Amino acid sequence: MAKRILMMGSINIDLTMYADALPKPGETIKTDNFSTFPGGKGGNQAAAAAKLGADVRYLTKLGDDMFSNTLIESQRSYGVDTSRIIIEKGNTAGIAMIMVNKEAQNSIMFTPGANSALTPEDVRAHQDAFDGCDFLEITMEIRTDTVYEAIRIAKEKGLKVILDPAPAPPEGLPADIISLIDYMKPNETETEILTGIRINGAEDAFRALDKLRSCGVKNPIVSLGKDGFAAYPDPDGKPKHFKAVEVNSIDTTAAGDIFLGALSSRLAAGSSFAEALQFANAAASLSTAAKGAQTSIPELDDVLSLMGERRG
Ligand code: RIB
Repeated sequence: MAKRILMMGSINIDLTMYADALPKPGETIKTDNFSTFPGGKGGNQAAAAAKLGADVRYLTKLGDDMFSNTLIESQRSYGVDTSRIIIEKGNTAGIAMIMVNKEAQNSIMFTPGANSALTPEDVRAHQDAFDGCDFLEITMEIRTDTVYEAIRIAKEKGLKVILDPAPAPPEGLPADIISLIDYMKPNETETEILTGIRINGAEDAFRALDKLRSCGVKNPIVSLGKDGFAAYPDPDGKPKHFKAVEVNSIDTTAAGDIFLGALSSRLAAGSSFAEALQFANAAASLSTAAKGAQTSIPELDDVLSLMGERRG
């Protein structure tokens, strides 16, 4: 039977501008290319997992402003169970200001709004939301003490934990928390914060994987940006460098989120870690060919056919 994912982490509205280049400090750039998208690292991962076939429940806080309503509707449209989203009167949704250049790279600044109103006490009070779930998938754009409490509760209740350590706390992760993590995918910057290893290619990523495994992370994945990622597809085998699948990229916003949402959807469906990695790689690459965060999640059939082409 397919397993259920409990998602926690930020849901934001993304105010996105596209231009040839990102502005330098002090520079003003005019663009007529602006859009508003539903986003947030947690919101994107939940929407991706649900759109790609998983049963997803969301636990978080939103406000009662116009953006919060739009964001809940977006989650519902992907089939996410929003019955555990707590609405805090007078609060507002998180907002992300995103700029994308013609190489499809982005810069993001965000303000969390109601995302940061979810406390460890709230998570304890709503811990029945964990019941009937098999995975906790959680991102770090919310309070760190809330993230750590959620991870502890997940483990008490026998869930597997998928952590997106974005943004990584500058002090790293506590030893008693990192050892509880089953799956984690830091990017290059986050990997350096968490392991002290600067990532300049696959060999560095392999060393970082070993360091994370020695801290107790069962299945770490180290992102190498446009060069793909590194992981141990078989925990008893050798580490492998997976190259990104080449597509015509126009916007890389949320590609990492769509990777993790796709990965969890396959793990929940019973796939092996190795298969889930291939699926997530295809989904994340396809997402960069479309604009926006949740709007760029590919269709299941397109992901499967891209995987078939690569295998065939
Ligand atoms: O990873 C992309 C996401 O980061 C955006 O959707 C934005 O909301 C920020 O959370």
